[in-house]
Amino acid sequence: MPDFVIRDLERLRADHATAVLAFERANREYFARSISDRGDEFFDHFDDRYNAWLVDQETGLSAYYVLVAEDGSVLGRFNLYDIDDGSASVGYRVARHVAGHGVATATVQQLCRLAADRHGLRTLRAATSRQNVASQKVLVNAGFVAVGAADPADLGGKPGTQYRRDLTTEG
Ligand SMILES: CC(C)(COP(=O)(O)OP(=O)(O)OC[C@H]1O[C@@H](n2cnc3c(N)ncnc32)[C@H](O)[C@@H]1OP(=O)(O)O)[C@@H](O)C(=O)NCCC(=O)NCCS
Repeated sequence: MPDFVIRDLERLRADHATAVLAFERANREYFARSISDRGDEFFDHFDDRYNAWLVDQETGLSAYYVLVAEDGSVLGRFNLYDIDDGSASVGYRVARHVAGHGVATATVQQLCRLAADRHGLRTLRAATSRQNVASQKVLVNAGFVAVGAADPADLGGKPGTQYRRDLTTEG
C-alpha cells in the first residue's frame, strides 16, 4: 500500500518553496544515484534559484509543476523547460517513498496533456541515461519514442538516449 495520498499537480508558486526545498533535501542522495546532483551551490542559494524559476515561468521560458500530497508535502516535480517555438524539454523526479507506484508514468502523461492544452506545445523532448531504466520506461509508457543518442553533456557526461513525443497525435 502506498504511504502517500496525492492532492494535485499544481503549477509552481512562491508558497511551494519550503516544501520544494524539503523535497530536494530529503531526496538529494537518492536522486544523485541516477541523475546529476544539483550541487551545494543550489542548496546554499536556494531562494535565488527558486525566484529565478518563477521568473522563467512568467516569461514563458518554462512551466514547472509540483505533485502535492494531501499534507502539502511535495511528492514529485514535473517540468517543461526551454520552451521555444512549440516545443519543450521535459524533466521529472519523484520522492523515494513514492517511486514504483506508477506515479511518474501517470503524471508525465498528465504533463503531456497540459503541455498541449494549456501551453500550446506540439512536441516534447527528453533525455535519459542508459542506466536509468525506470526513466526510459516512464518515457515509453507516456508515448515518447527514442530518436537517437543524447548529448552526454545533458546527462552529466553519461551516454544515453534522446526521446521525442509528438503531441499532435494521441499517446
Ligand atoms: C525515474 C523515476 C521518475 C521513476 O518514477 P516512478 O514513479 O517510480 O515510475 P513508475 O512507477 O511510473 O515506473 C515506470 C516503470 O519503471 C519501472 N521501475 C521503477 N523503478 C525502477 C527501478 N529502480 N529499476 C528498474 N525499473 C524501475 C516500473 O516497474 C515501471 O515499469 P513498467 O512500465 O514496466 O510497469 C524515479 O525513479 C526518479 O525520480 N528517479 C530519480 C530522478 C530521475 O531519474 N529522473 C528522470 C531523469 S531523465
